[in-house]
Amino acid sequence: MNNLEIVKLDNFGRGICYVNDKITFVVNALPEEIVNIKITKEYKKYNEAVVTEYIKKSPKRVDSICPYYDLCGGCNLLHMKYEDTLKFKEDKLKSIIYKYAKIDKEIEMVASKDFNYRNKVTLKIKKKKVGYYMEATHRIVVIDKCPIAEEAINDFIEDIKYLNVNNGELVIRSNYNNELLLWIKTKDKIEPDIAYLKTKHKIAGIIVNDKVIDGDSSFIELINHQLFTVSYDSFFQINRDICAKLFNLVNEYIGDNEVILDLYCGVGTLGINASKNAKKTFGIEIVRNAVLNAITNAKINKRDNVYYMLGEASKCLPKIKEHLNTVIVDPPRAGLDKETINTLREFKPDKIIYISCDPMTLARDLGILKEFYNIKLIKGLDMFPYTHGIESFCVLDKVKE
Ligand SMILES: C[S@@+](CC[C@H](N)C(=O)[O-])C[C@H]1O[C@@H](n2cnc3c(N)ncnc32)[C@H](O)[C@@H]1O
Repeated sequence: MNNLEIVKLDNFGRGICYVNDKITFVVNALPEEIVNIKITKEYKKYNEAVVTEYIKKSPKRVDSICPYYDLCGGCNLLHMKYEDTLKFKEDKLKSIIYKYAKIDKEIEMVASKDFNYRNKVTLKIKKKKVGYYMEATHRIVVIDKCPIAEEAINDFIEDIKYLNVNNGELVIRSNYNNELLLWIKTKDKIEPDIAYLKTKHKIAGIIVNDKVIDGDSSFIELINHQLFTVSYDSFFQINRDICAKLFNLVNEYIGDNEVILDLYCGVGTLGINASKNAKKTFGIEIVRNAVLNAITNAKINKRDNVYYMLGEASKCLPKIKEHLNTVIVDPPRAGLDKETINTLREFKPDKIIYISCDPMTLARDLGILKEFYNIKLIKGLDMFPYTHGIESFCVLDKVKE
């Protein structure tokens, strides 16, 4: 198909054009570009396509700095200038919130350090080949670096061979001090050359499946002068720069002497950060090691009045018998379940701070909560630069009865 005009971007950053009136999503294509395309998949209502030739390029186009960009699919916007990716995300978030929650609000994006921001990557290993899975396949794109991963992770990639894994998965985490925590998931019996690896890298721990074979099962992270123990299987925000900005934003909306709940608390970060002047803080989290980390983290950061519950959010929440001033919710992509929303409606906290990594489920939940809460603020945070992902930060004030 030749000479097609890209009219706009979809929510995944793909260009949209029309082939005989049928909507066609084209990767790596920008509005106002004229392109020749090849349709890669044809569905009843839409096509997917790739560009075979750019007839007219957009002035917003830049060359991707990643050699694997066309194959990997992990990033979607590396062909755009960073400022333009922020504008795309601002428009995307605003339109999703309007379409699905009928909330019309100005939304600002908070920018991030744009490259080398990811402190965690998950690599696949197949017959000793190391890389990411090509999007929607189980085929490996072999990589020797990833421009969005932190330098300490990139430095380690060439030495993965010394772990002697034939097949499996490797999660590499790096912290503020360039230490690495390596979690290998494999059925192979492996004998890594740890002594050699330690001559080149600061390795805090190596875990094979669920067994620590060297060092510790966790390392320490540092955000805004606060230290956090993070186990190999605990969640931690993947972008330290944005995490620090998120901490500051949360603190702008917390008063003194509050009773705070940090729902979906992970290793306790947001609640500990917010509770310097709190009366009492609760945390609820489903991963056991994360709760153990949170208990340690409360001690390290000298928070005495913090109480953690291990379990499902919807089951633990009703056990709290005190009035909550602020509830911070930071759920996984699925958002809040009905039971949790119903309990929040019953509890009527004065304020809800909703942090979300999925605009669609956020919009769904805000659409329900807006009956009882004024949506005071929605901000986007660029937690995942050059991907179509957006982290959101929202403040909801209880409607006066
Ligand atoms: C997006 S993370 C947020 C963690 C933490 N607030 C932070 O900023 O590091 C979501 C957390 O919710 C936990 N989680 C997932 N489903 C849960 C559930 N049904 N009940 C309680 N916690 C859950 C995950 O283990 C993860 O730690």
